[in-house]
Amino acid sequence: MEHTQFNLEINPDTRVKDFLLMDIKTAHVFEKYGIDFCCKGYKNFNEVCEEKEIDKNSILNEIYQIVNHDESAKPKERFEEWNLDFLSDYIVNNHHNYVRNAIPQITEHLDRVTFKHVDKNPFLYELKSTFDSLKAEMLSHIEKEEKILFHLIKYLVDCKRFEEKPKLSGFKSVEFPIKSMLAEHDNAGESTARIREITNNYNPPEDACNTFRLTYSELEEFEKDLHIHVHLENNILFPKAISLEQELTAKI
Ligand SMILES: [Fe+2]
Repeated sequence: MEHTQFNLEINPDTRVKDFLLMDIKTAHVFEKYGIDFCCKGYKNFNEVCEEKEIDKNSILNEIYQIVNHDESAKPKERFEEWNLDFLSDYIVNNHHNYVRNAIPQITEHLDRVTFKHVDKNPFLYELKSTFDSLKAEMLSHIEKEEKILFHLIKYLVDCKRFEEKPKLSGFKSVEFPIKSMLAEHDNAGESTARIREITNNYNPPEDACNTFRLTYSELEEFEKDLHIHVHLENNILFPKAISLEQELTAKI
């Protein structure tokens, strides 16, 4: 077992998501190296470094720097210690609302850029169609989470609070909606990865106008926000909701 200078012991079983659970800011390092920490955050850290041929010590060094020396950083948010109803509300207020606000803005800019510059940049057709499908999927996804899954999670939290056994039919178990939300996260992750490829890692053409540049930076921010959003759900909210349901239903 290796002991690092931050609050995490690296052992052969350490997963990528363990770093984010220690400190969400480590996401910046994984983003930089193109390592998926949300949908595939369960992957083994050592294996991912080997697969991608990345020097493990360089990443650990950068993680150390960001955890200990980022003076501009806000105080650490301990997402994994929050009550699940509060975490659900945080995801809605911070991430779902961001998605709802960002989509019309990006759409307007991307439509304008496509209309003006597609002749010279034919890849804009695919960029627009990929973003159009992503946004339709995302809007329906967050609505399902809010109306069905988060609602159910809050019910479980209340049952725990009032020491009641939840009245759940098989259909209502959190595991069913979680399974479908996980699949939708994978699809959204694939779409943003494709957008990253089409835009050459969000590098606009040299002669790109300001709206072109702005659209790329908005798309990049959209992807970054999605990664944190999915991390909070896949790696914290969903597994904890499943455990809470099992704990409550096991009670006589
Ligand atoms: Fe989600």
